[in-house]
Amino acid sequence: MAGRIPESFIDDLLERVDIVQTIHQRVPLKPAGREYQACCPFHDEKTPSFTVSPQKQFYHCFGCGKHGSAIGFLMEYDGLAFTDAVAELAQSVGMQVPVTAGSNDPERTDRLEQMFNRMQEAASFFQLNLKRHEPAQNYLRGRGLTGEICARFKMGYAPDAWQSLSDHLTAQGATQQQLLEIGLLAENEGRMYDKFRDRIMFPILDRRGRVCGFGGRAMGERGPKYLNSPETPVFHKGRELYGLYQARQGGKPDQLLLVEGYMDVVALSQFGIEGAVAALGTATTEHQVRLLFQTSDNIVCCFDGDRAGLQAAWKALQVMLPQLIAGRQVRFLFLPQGEDPDSLVRKTSAEAFLEQVRQAEPLSSFLFRHLQEGLDMQSAEGRASLVARAGPLLAKLPAGAYHDLLHDELENLTRHRLQSGDINVEKASRRSPTSQYRPVGKTLLRQLAALLVQRPELAQQLDRQAIEIVQSQKNAAAVLELIDFCQQSPQISTVALLERWREHAAAGLLAELVTWQVPETDSGQQQELAHVLQRLHAEQLSARIDLLTTAQQQTGLSEEQKLELRELLAAKQQVQNPPTSGSA
Ligand code: UTP
Ligand code: MN
Repeated sequence: MAGRIPESFIDDLLERVDIVQTIHQRVPLKPAGREYQACCPFHDEKTPSFTVSPQKQFYHCFGCGKHGSAIGFLMEYDGLAFTDAVAELAQSVGMQVPVTAGSNDPERTDRLEQMFNRMQEAASFFQLNLKRHEPAQNYLRGRGLTGEICARFKMGYAPDAWQSLSDHLTAQGATQQQLLEIGLLAENEGRMYDKFRDRIMFPILDRRGRVCGFGGRAMGERGPKYLNSPETPVFHKGRELYGLYQARQGGKPDQLLLVEGYMDVVALSQFGIEGAVAALGTATTEHQVRLLFQTSDNIVCCFDGDRAGLQAAWKALQVMLPQLIAGRQVRFLFLPQGEDPDSLVRKTSAEAFLEQVRQAEPLSSFLFRHLQEGLDMQSAEGRASLVARAGPLLAKLPAGAYHDLLHDELENLTRHRLQSGDINVEKASRRSPTSQYRPVGKTLLRQLAALLVQRPELAQQLDRQAIEIVQSQKNAAAVLELIDFCQQSPQISTVALLERWREHAAAGLLAELVTWQVPETDSGQQQELAHVLQRLHAEQLSARIDLLTTAQQQTGLSEEQKLELRELLAAKQQVQNPPTSGSA
């Protein structure tokens, strides 16, 4: 499967992706020395043995032995096929996978692809119908939208008829069953009819720009204001953000504005304010927050200033807390009663709106302001209540700057520092692994391989003699292959090397060697390389010496062999006490 995507693309991708961020968005990590740790998501444990190395761009669980690159993690954690994991990562860093990615299950891929095609056909049908339907155009014009912006968001109109879309799509080969499955048809007592009728249609694009769902707005008072696509195989409401695809078009945006409505996204874009996205009429989900942070480190949540808006903001805050690692920023902008970004930007100006955004309230301020509501901070009881309220929330924060900052702030407010007894703080001690996983033992060849995996360019220093030494060893085939590989790609990174070896029988072993300690400095590494080679050489000599001495005892040696043995013994002496290196 890996062969369908060029290897060089995988190398580049792994250069750009940060595994710490990728994993942290799913499993909050805590710094531990130069690495990061968490309780392993792949087996049950109470103390963290799951380790992520930013240098090596690799994760490894010392409890269960699971390991891999960012690609491997997504495959394991999100249950993705290789190509899908690559596509997902590529998307997160704005790269385009050069070959169309398929899934492991061609039948399923075909089926999904067909669904996306039908959704696209529906979007085109709605767009075409908007051009033909003057009242819909008037409605949009009345709301201040230009044709240009409607085109940018591929907006359309669903005709006021029970079967216009379904007739159109069945004429193109779709079955009613298919249309029902992707939520374009609805069913009532055995009767099928177009779900969206007489509505302005907002196609929802997934991260790859494919139409995966629709929101449809009624133009009058008839029926619910908005109808949304139901959950389908291609549409999961909690996993999409309206406007995200457009927001990502110009590269990584400086900030994302999380707003409440379709119209808000579109209106802001019309006023030149890009990077607005909307949750699809639901409370913000963990998944959506992950998407937000994959796109930008700076999120401003714009909510109504009314009670409902406040509640929505508070929910969003809670979902965001576990993903607040250092470097990320979240602020809240509460709009005046009865206003939303759409109405506000039209009433004032883009500049005035952006000024409000700049003055948005930091998350920490909103958090403590909200928690203090109804409390008398002058009294000990009030302060104690605040500690009690804040505890469970602050416990959601991953270790890091935000975590410390909020704890400091709570301490300032209450003169009380949260202790591990106040909330569940895990003990940092590492428990010995309970599962079957056993690290492999050290051998010289493995030490050599560990050096090469971690510093592939060291292979350049292996000359013919060194390679002959390795060749003389038993079971050296994989190491020889590794040397050859590294000599041909000296610039390759450790994690890219491991990806190239994904299908190799030695892949698991190599991955484990990544966790071995090797010296950090160039000179340290060279010394270790020389040392390992020297010991391998000594082993090579000993093996030959043993062979000759046994022969000597059993059958005697030829003059030539006697000479060889003498030379071998002298050479071994040399190797064990080399004139240049001081210690034996
Ligand atoms: P709003 O009621 O604030 O609508 O709902 P809006 O976005 O301002 O739209 P306009 O300006 O009245 O046209 C915010 C979001 O909540 C979801 C939609 O996603 C909407 O954009 N919603 C709202 C629904 O899903 N169903 C509804 O009936 C209403
Ligand atoms: Mn509105």
